[in-house]
Amino acid sequence: MLHISENSMVALQEVKKDLSGKFYWKFSSTNLEGSTFHLLNINGKLLRPTLVFVGAESVGLNSMKFVNLAIAIEYLHISSLIHDDIIDKDDMRRGVETVHKKYGIENAILAGDALIARAVALSSVYGEDVVKRIAEAAFLMCDGESMDFCTQRRNVDMTLDNYMEIAKKKTASLISTSIGIAAISEKMGDNVIGRLSKAGELLGIAFQVRDDVVNSIGSFELGKRPGNDDRKFNRPNIVSVFEQSGENKKDAVEKSINLMTNHVKEAIQELSEFEKINYIKKIIAAYFSEEDLRKYL
Ligand code: IPE
Ligand code: IPE
Ligand code: MG
Ligand code: MG
Repeated sequence: MLHISENSMVALQEVKKDLSGKFYWKFSSTNLEGSTFHLLNINGKLLRPTLVFVGAESVGLNSMKFVNLAIAIEYLHISSLIHDDIIDKDDMRRGVETVHKKYGIENAILAGDALIARAVALSSVYGEDVVKRIAEAAFLMCDGESMDFCTQRRNVDMTLDNYMEIAKKKTASLISTSIGIAAISEKMGDNVIGRLSKAGELLGIAFQVRDDVVNSIGSFELGKRPGNDDRKFNRPNIVSVFEQSGENKKDAVEKSINLMTNHVKEAIQELSEFEKINYIKKIIAAYFSEEDLRKYL
């Protein structure tokens, strides 16, 4: 859990409380209801809602105003997890069975779609710019996921540039949207929105790199089966990208950690003019701690 301000903490508690409650449409299909709520009932790290609030606070907005928007973004994120697990043929997510494993592919596809529908309904209240930005992020995620999956299929080695493009699209697009969305909703101007979005993109890439390192060094920390990105599946993983260019595993992990840290530093630099920079720095440093990663080595 990130150490956020008291006010954002209260907003995050609201998100936790309402994540399933805001889904007020009645289900006739108990299968769709089960598959939709399967991951909603288990909180993940709630990174994206947290970033919605950090982004709001960093430009002087009250997090409480953005609770429903944070929920919408978490719905979109969960929909992407459900569909991603079908694509990746994974059987474990958030420490439990994946949605398609438990409810079948058909219900998992529909659960993801239902979550996207709710995300649109909840975010529409925050204005046209917000809906456009969320839709754009959703499109980029699809594009990135397709590129990711096509490299798995083709079984080709991946360049660092290739990896970066995929990470930017499949992961960083929504993280960048999360941190900038409150400012977008309040039409805070291109400079502020641009800086938040750029910082979010850099953090999103750092986040995917961290996720890959944790997968590669074999930890169950993230509630997913570790080691399954390896070359047998040929999934894009930053550690294998460095291995493919001739590094041994240990050096490839070190290079990956450095890449993460450099992206985090650049993100902080992007936010340096923000009044609450020390607050933001502390939050970011806690999640992207190198020591935390090295303890697995
Ligand atoms: C997992 O995201 C998908 C990636 C982009 C790597 P999270 O690690 O934030 O997933 P949850 O929400 O905590 O389960
Ligand atoms: C997840 O990518 C990105 C999205 C869900 C859009 P990965 O396939 O690398 O992430 P995990 O490891 O399954 O969470
Ligand atoms: Mg996956
Ligand atoms: Mg994937």
